[in-house]
Amino acid sequence: MLVLGIETSCDETAAAIVDTDGNVRSDVIHSQIALHAPYGGIVPELASRDHLTTLDGVVMAALEKAGVGFGDLGGIAVTCRPGLLGALLVGVQYGKALAFGLDLPLVGVDHLMGHLFSVFLQRPEDRPPRPDYPFVALLASGGHTALYAVEGNDASQVRELGATRDDAAGEAFDKVAKLLGLGYPGGPRIDKLARVGNPKRYELPRSLPESLEFSFSGIKTQVARLVERGDIVIDREQDVADAAASFQRACVDVLTTKLFRAARDIEATSVVLGGGVAANSGLREAVAAEAERRGLRACIPSLANTTDNAAMIAYAGSIRLARGERDPLSLGAFTTTSLPRTTRKGRGERDVRRGRSLAGNR
Ligand code: KG4
Ligand code: ZN
Repeated sequence: MLVLGIETSCDETAAAIVDTDGNVRSDVIHSQIALHAPYGGIVPELASRDHLTTLDGVVMAALEKAGVGFGDLGGIAVTCRPGLLGALLVGVQYGKALAFGLDLPLVGVDHLMGHLFSVFLQRPEDRPPRPDYPFVALLASGGHTALYAVEGNDASQVRELGATRDDAAGEAFDKVAKLLGLGYPGGPRIDKLARVGNPKRYELPRSLPESLEFSFSGIKTQVARLVERGDIVIDREQDVADAAASFQRACVDVLTTKLFRAARDIEATSVVLGGGVAANSGLREAVAAEAERRGLRACIPSLANTTDNAAMIAYAGSIRLARGERDPLSLGAFTTTSLPRTTRKGRGERDVRRGRSLAGNR
């Protein structure tokens, strides 16, 4: 069965055609980076408007690249949460109209489920090893950073082990890049500069060392302090490269240490990376090396699969469609994930009794 995936949760308008085995037939992404760059971050209203005008063309391009027509589709999967509400609504409304007009089954997909299972996507140029269940996944993007125990491909089999109490890892990369005068988006720029910098030059904190939760605000604040004090001069190329390298090393240390601690805790033999920060070369190298040292399987998706795309949405949707699940045309859009959370922003772990979260999940 071929599934059309639609993704408009943030600043990428994307559509893809994927089959139920995870083979990517086409994957089209229209990035809004240039649109938001002058503002140093995403402007939600501009994001919604741009999705509205570009989505139809992106979907048509995905069909054309796959060499298929609407009549070849078996279902439609659309990101319905979490994300910017106005941005999500564009994709959800489009998906609903298409499903109604073509009389096709529709499923709403949690963007985080898309990232978690993006490792199963197979592209002609990239066939990563598939993880065994249970696996531990580190999902680190611009909006989320958390560790998950994944026991199967249903949302009920995904358990959050710990998340960030403040900034997401990608958000920290973006904010630190801004402090260093590197512009937006910060992650790839820091990654590039880190290769020529000295990671030992600046001492930066590793927060919450004993926990599976994360905190990135301390590292960011420390970089801000070093800039204020003149220890990092942003006009000095070597200072900026050394700061980028030191910051990246601190983040990679924290992410890698917790990922492998979680794997040990749940006795997982596979570790998986997902989300935009999984594109980071330092993180990829550190996770691959540590997995080899411990005899674990590192399943690291290709760069095309780690950052936002619609192929991962189509695949996560295809799992539900193949099970016969469908969502009604009253499908809504939500800013939050449907995955139960154990970490509350700013406050750490929820009160947990009898292993269940008291605070609910919405
Ligand atoms: O998953 P994603 O494409 O979108 C969200 O759902 O947030 O992640 C985007 C985030 C941005 O914060 C970006 O700076 C970060 O991923 N990112 C990176 C790299 N490439 C993208 N962070 C570190 N190193 C990279 N190479
Ligand atoms: Zn994402």
